[in-house]
Amino acid sequence: MKLVTKFPGEHLPEAYYDTRYEILRRPLGAPKGSEHLPKDLEAINVWVESDSVISAVGRAHLLEPNEDGSVIDVKANSKCPAFGPLSTNYTPSSDDNGVNIGPELRPAIQVRGMGTLETHRGLGFASKVLGECETQSQHLWNAKTGWLQARLSAIPFYTANGWTCFGPEYNVPNVGPHRSMWKNFNTLKE
Ligand SMILES: CC(C)(COP(=O)(O)OP(=O)(O)OC[C@H]1O[C@@H](n2cnc3c(N)ncnc32)[C@H](O)[C@@H]1OP(=O)(O)O)[C@@H](O)C(=O)NCCC(=O)NCCS
Repeated sequence: MKLVTKFPGEHLPEAYYDTRYEILRRPLGAPKGSEHLPKDLEAINVWVESDSVISAVGRAHLLEPNEDGSVIDVKANSKCPAFGPLSTNYTPSSDDNGVNIGPELRPAIQVRGMGTLETHRGLGFASKVLGECETQSQHLWNAKTGWLQARLSAIPFYTANGWTCFGPEYNVPNVGPHRSMWKNFNTLKE
């Protein structure tokens, strides 16, 4: 098993995108090409190579000061709402799980494109990919928090990796029900 990390601007092989397509786009009936996401080349991209294939993938990108994570994905015909706490007009909600979302949220990263081939699940591969995204984001961008939009079926995986749900459930067109999750990297250092 080999963990590979590519920093912004580094070449990403087609095999990386192929694996992302197989896991995250083909099951939705989305066309080839829809696996390419905005900011792929500005992101930290991580994958696991095992049995001569790229078996698990994920990426993290820096949210610019004016970005709140809302996404319209034209190729996948889908869109995601903003991460409320990163918006300027955020008011805490009763769905926040009692999480104390403090003021020092940025630099903030968003994790997208996480997945493991069905044949390689339950081996800890996605956890390695996610952990590397978190660690390298802290080194490269001094990231203080991480944010993501989780399919409901993936929430136990993220929870096992220290992420917390906040806000209400919402539907992402063409993909299904989601909840937003976040992780405070500051508290890891305390
Ligand atoms: C979610 C996903 C990425 C997990 O990948 P994985 O490589 O199997 O995950 P790991 O082996 O690193 O799992 C680590 C821990 O997460 C938890 N976990 C992972 N998948 C889980 C599931 N389906 N149900 C409950 N817990 C789960 C377990 O606690 C696991 O630890 P354990 O092996 O000691 O029990 C994978 O199931 C997947 O690709 N799903 C389809 C695509 C997807 O939903 N991507 C996320 C989009 S938001």
